[in-house]
Amino acid sequence: MIEISARVKALPDYPLAEIPGIKRRLVESGMDVIDLGAGDNDAPPPSIAVEAMTEALADPAYSKYGFQQGLPAFRQAASDWVERRFGKRFDPVTEILPLIGSKDGLAHLPFAVVNQGDVAIVPEPGYQAYLGGALLAGAEPHVAPLRREHDFLLELRRVPEAVLRRAKLAFVNYPNNPTSAVATPEYLERTVAACRRHGILLAYDNAYCDLTFDGYRAPSIFEFPGAAEIALEFFSLSKSFSMTGWRLGFAVGRAELIGALTRVKSYVDTGPFLAVQRAGAAVLDRADEVVGPIRKELERRRDAAVPVLRKAGFVLESPKAAMYLWVALPAGVPSAAFARRALEETGALVLPGSAFGPAGEGYFRIALTTGPDRLTEAARRLGRILDATRREELATTA
Ligand SMILES: Cc1ncc(COP(=O)(O)O)c(C=O)c1O
Repeated sequence: MIEISARVKALPDYPLAEIPGIKRRLVESGMDVIDLGAGDNDAPPPSIAVEAMTEALADPAYSKYGFQQGLPAFRQAASDWVERRFGKRFDPVTEILPLIGSKDGLAHLPFAVVNQGDVAIVPEPGYQAYLGGALLAGAEPHVAPLRREHDFLLELRRVPEAVLRRAKLAFVNYPNNPTSAVATPEYLERTVAACRRHGILLAYDNAYCDLTFDGYRAPSIFEFPGAAEIALEFFSLSKSFSMTGWRLGFAVGRAELIGALTRVKSYVDTGPFLAVQRAGAAVLDRADEVVGPIRKELERRRDAAVPVLRKAGFVLESPKAAMYLWVALPAGVPSAAFARRALEETGALVLPGSAFGPAGEGYFRIALTTGPDRLTEAARRLGRILDATRREELATTA
């Protein structure tokens, strides 16, 4: 008998793990499935990326190990992009690290800073790689619930002092997945200050920084005083550029912290494929041009779906950023049962709030990953399930 480790047993089921299987079964049975589950936009990757990748594939030099250093041109493009975008300069060699998607960096980060039993503060609902990475590294996760009444902000001042004293790491993510909440400058300033006071590494996940609407601009954590000492920031090419499967992102921060993460990764992987880094550099150099139309289309989808969902009886905000609608369910309707029913009876695939941790209960998430017509069709189907749920509830209480 091989005994599976306590750390692996402690991992909750990964939220997206069972969905592809159910979807396949329904599609095979002839169901018209509208997949609004994973945050995987339907836009094709930029032609700039495809062309650069094609060229790189023809050059055998790009087929070699990249190691953690990777492609100097990618480091340079990432550094230039951060400077253009946020006005902050980071050394491409020592203060930037290419990642196999930002998930790679976020999930491996706890290994760099936590010792057995140290606390890692994770938002809930939240991207599950934070919790998984913390558990695998032997940290004790402290779950910080994100609540509507606090604008879905992870407030360190609500974390007990005794926990803050044991905390080594806090994951903070705005624009947020799954709530699409954004952070105010005051919030980011006080969060940086709290991390400095308690010696907590602030892992700022900025995967959605360029998917912003209505003129909103998402800042870098490094725009706030003192952040350079205690923060690492994580960027992704997946969402802004529709390159989820290419697996490319990067971390930014001071050399000692980047160095520690580099050391961890040098034992577990050999860096992103160099040809992908070549493509990533090409895209970052022309980022505005590429992300503009993606941002506009997401805004169009949001504006199409929100009114239809509201008309169907749902309560939700119209988000300023990211690519999700975070939709409240009536009290007492379990999100997993609602999502399963919506999928099996109507083919509308959404993620239950509970998939992002128990504090996500009472909501479901719609990813704006398909065009306005299909989105509004899905919204109507979800509305039918909401009506049916309410009718049944009335019948049982009558
Ligand atoms: C909040 C957040 N951070 C990070 C990631 C990881 O992105 P990637 O690994 O594709 O760069 C995701 C992906 O869904 C996300 O939602």
